[in-house]
Amino acid sequence: MKLVFATNNRHKLEEVRAILGNSIQVLSLNDINCHDEIPETAETLEGNALIKARYIYENYGCNCFADDTGLEVDALNGEPGVYSARYAGNNNDSEANMHKLLQNLTGENNRKAQFRTVIALIINGEENIFDGIVKGSISEIKKGDSGFGYDPIFIPEGFSESFAQMTSEQKNSISHRYRATEKLNDYLRKKYD
Ligand code: IMP
Repeated sequence: MKLVFATNNRHKLEEVRAILGNSIQVLSLNDINCHDEIPETAETLEGNALIKARYIYENYGCNCFADDTGLEVDALNGEPGVYSARYAGNNNDSEANMHKLLQNLTGENNRKAQFRTVIALIINGEENIFDGIVKGSISEIKKGDSGFGYDPIFIPEGFSESFAQMTSEQKNSISHRYRATEKLNDYLRKKYD
């Protein structure tokens, strides 16, 4: 089976291919010659994942899936959530995003947060949604320098290190994206194996 994953992010592609295995060929947007800027205008992670998957299904006629991830902080009513990539304004400026988040949590004792990934799958017009959550807390200061995004300030539940202090194998074995992709994998196995 062939499935387009609506991304060109090499790390995401590698991670997803490793989980889905050889029986599912995962193609990137480059592989189908899609170089479009797909708008992410929804106000929820589910909405954005669906916009991207529907765009590919409708314009390229491919079975596909798309993901969207956000960091949801309890004391900030779920912010930055769907706006995680552009919390401080410019897209994907991780330093500015973390700085803003730490500022907004100054003096706050409730540091609880979670990463949530939503995957929208469309096969022959049938839509399904899967999600993966990792609970944790926001540290007072940045720790570690691997990973990306908010990794230096996110401490997963049950650990004392931040995501940025873990090896990629360690992080990937408990991450939100891993958990959502495992659900996608289970669904595909039950339905198509
Ligand atoms: P995306 O939907 O995967 O592009 O994620 C949106 C934003 O959430 C990214 O730009 C990062 O700021 C943040 N993010 C997503 N996944 C992670 C992660 O595993 N660690 C840290 N930050 C992440």
